[in-house]
Amino acid sequence: MEIALSCDGLVKTYGSGTKAVHALQGVSLSVSGGEIFSLLGPNGAGKTTLIKCVLGIVFTSAGSGSVLGSPFGSVSAKEHIGYLPENHRYPAHLTGGQVLRYFGKLSGLEAAKLESQITRTLELTGMSDWRDTKVKKYSKGMMQRLGLAQALINEPQLIMLDEPTDGVDPVGRKEIREVLVRLKNEGKTIFLNSHLLSEVERISDRVVIMDHGKIVEQGTVEALTRTGNIYQLKLGNVTPEVLSALHVALLPTADGSLEMSFLTVEELNAAIDYLRGQSVLIESIVPKKSTLEDRFVDLFKSGDITHQ
Ligand SMILES: Nc1ncnc2c1ncn2[C@@H]1O[C@H](COP(=O)(O)OP(=O)(O)OP(=O)(O)O)[C@@H](O)[C@H]1O
Ligand SMILES: [Mg+2]
Repeated sequence: MEIALSCDGLVKTYGSGTKAVHALQGVSLSVSGGEIFSLLGPNGAGKTTLIKCVLGIVFTSAGSGSVLGSPFGSVSAKEHIGYLPENHRYPAHLTGGQVLRYFGKLSGLEAAKLESQITRTLELTGMSDWRDTKVKKYSKGMMQRLGLAQALINEPQLIMLDEPTDGVDPVGRKEIREVLVRLKNEGKTIFLNSHLLSEVERISDRVVIMDHGKIVEQGTVEALTRTGNIYQLKLGNVTPEVLSALHVALLPTADGSLEMSFLTVEELNAAIDYLRGQSVLIESIVPKKSTLEDRFVDLFKSGDITHQ
């Protein structure tokens, strides 16, 4: 799969001397075309700065990067990028439709295309009924959905969203998630900055966790939420004697299955052989998962992430 975005040793320092802020301290990552990629981290980690470097809103201090095959900030790449900034504001006297028309014209859409794109993006974000309402009457959730429509107006290949579900209620967040998954299914690449770990967990293919301008962890959601060799086994007709002969730590769980820790997959298999030998019915074996939030808290506890 082609690479939509990559950076290598990216450094961004705001200011200089004693007032220097080291927002990015050598960040290397790559985003494949067609994936939902999420950048996570506490306040001040450098997430927004990274997006701004990609878009050329701020200049990088060192390192290199490319987006859609061009250097960061290049106009030809930006024609194919949609961007939802964090804390965006639109002029209060404009209607949703007018905001989209303004941004569509800025993107260089011609008249006929512009109209069809306004209709399409409003539909996609569930905002069609609010097209002729002034944005000053919009709720926070509606503003975010309009922001998303704005980011999609130029039919971008790569969509960069800075906290897209900020201030949006659970129903609105679910709708935004569904839009993002639909866009991914259309082959778009989505780069997401977010604090909302449970949100990210549901839709992201890959995640990078940053703190103080450095990457502390990266991988698939699956890999980051795997918990070593802990498996949940659901067993039928098992006796306490058979279980005690297993010599593994057992923990009953809420759904009636048993949680067992094995040091290796071989140990797990030996246990399965033993249980089957005892004619125990194995209903299911599931590797235990934690949540991204658990992972985040673990990183905090271990000191890899510090709270500002
Ligand atoms: N224009 C600027 N001038 C000076 N310092 C800045 C500027 N923009 C950001 N910073 C600093 O750079 C660091 C990274 O900020 P950034 O906004 O990238 O973090 P973030 O991860 O997006 O945080 P948040 O989750 O709060 O949005 C912070 O310490 C911030 O104060
Ligand atoms: Mg930010």
